[in-house]
Amino acid sequence: RIDSPRTRLLPATSEGVAEAARLLRGGGLVAFPTETVYGLGARAADGHAVARIFEAKGRPSFNPLIVHVADPGEAEALAETGPEARALMEAFWPGPLALVLPLRAGAPVADLVTAGLPTVALRAPAHPLAQALIAAAGPLAAPSANPSGRVSPTAPSHVLAGLGGRIEAVLDGGPCPVGVESTIVAPDGADGMRLLRAGGLPAETIEAVLGRPLIADTDPARIVAPGQMESHYAPRGRLRLGAMAAEPGEILLGFGAVAGDLSLSPSGDLREAAANLFAALHRLDAEGAERIAVAPVPDHGLGRAINDRLRRAAAPRP
Ligand code: TXA
Ligand code: MG
Repeated sequence: RIDSPRTRLLPATSEGVAEAARLLRGGGLVAFPTETVYGLGARAADGHAVARIFEAKGRPSFNPLIVHVADPGEAEALAETGPEARALMEAFWPGPLALVLPLRAGAPVADLVTAGLPTVALRAPAHPLAQALIAAAGPLAAPSANPSGRVSPTAPSHVLAGLGGRIEAVLDGGPCPVGVESTIVAPDGADGMRLLRAGGLPAETIEAVLGRPLIADTDPARIVAPGQMESHYAPRGRLRLGAMAAEPGEILLGFGAVAGDLSLSPSGDLREAAANLFAALHRLDAEGAERIAVAPVPDHGLGRAINDRLRRAAAPRP
């Protein structure tokens, strides 16, 4: 049952945050800004509200969600950490890193959040509005605030275009500074940390703190962080990657020296390109682009997350 005929846009003020927290405590859904993308939040302890997230997104219910917490102490209350997990939280929280950890027995996390898995994904976001909302309403389960399979939202207008009428409110924090989702890692026994999703925190930066390489997530039989479903982050148009020029009928999304009709970053800056990626895809969607050529993006640092999203956007649709 989706019963939000009107979705309110709440201002980035203490009143806006208080109203958002009130809606969440009443079992409502509120989209809120994080430094990566907008999240569609519900209280992690409220199974009914979490069920409405899946309903609103039209998302397959086997996808577990990230729980957004205030700090490592709150993470410790929900999950079992180890020395390496603690070191990463210490180094990178608040920030664009999520850790998949063993769920603590009796933790106040609805089963639907973890999709019944014995683990839970946790992250402390760096955005001040997200932090204020968590402080006021408690840990928030939140996937990206887009309909399942569509491009992630990096502005309130993207959220309203996809989920308007299906959720109670959007807390308006303007555009998201990082622009791609968090990097996800999971401890893997004595072997170290496994990279489940490339994202806003470059793998190289994590490896520098761990003092050893992340294990690549290559086994396709794993439950696969479902963000890893092949077609994902998809605009309506077809994508052709690695393009140096447009073919007839194509719109060219440029990067660096490849100018294009619009560009992820004219100066070839990966940070700028990550921040612009989803907004560019949303804009091409809104303009009805049917064939999109994308210039090559170097595959290091944030470029790995950008190329991962582009490959999924270009994958055959189910
Ligand atoms: O940047 C982000 O992480 C954003 C913002 C809103 O924080 N959130 C986000 O959530 O991207 P979502 O639901 O779109 O992606 C969550 C990812 C999925 O790929 C999911 O499979 C993985 O986290 N995940 C969650 N819990 C997991 C678990 N217990 N084991 C393995 N993967 C898990
Ligand atoms: Mg998502």
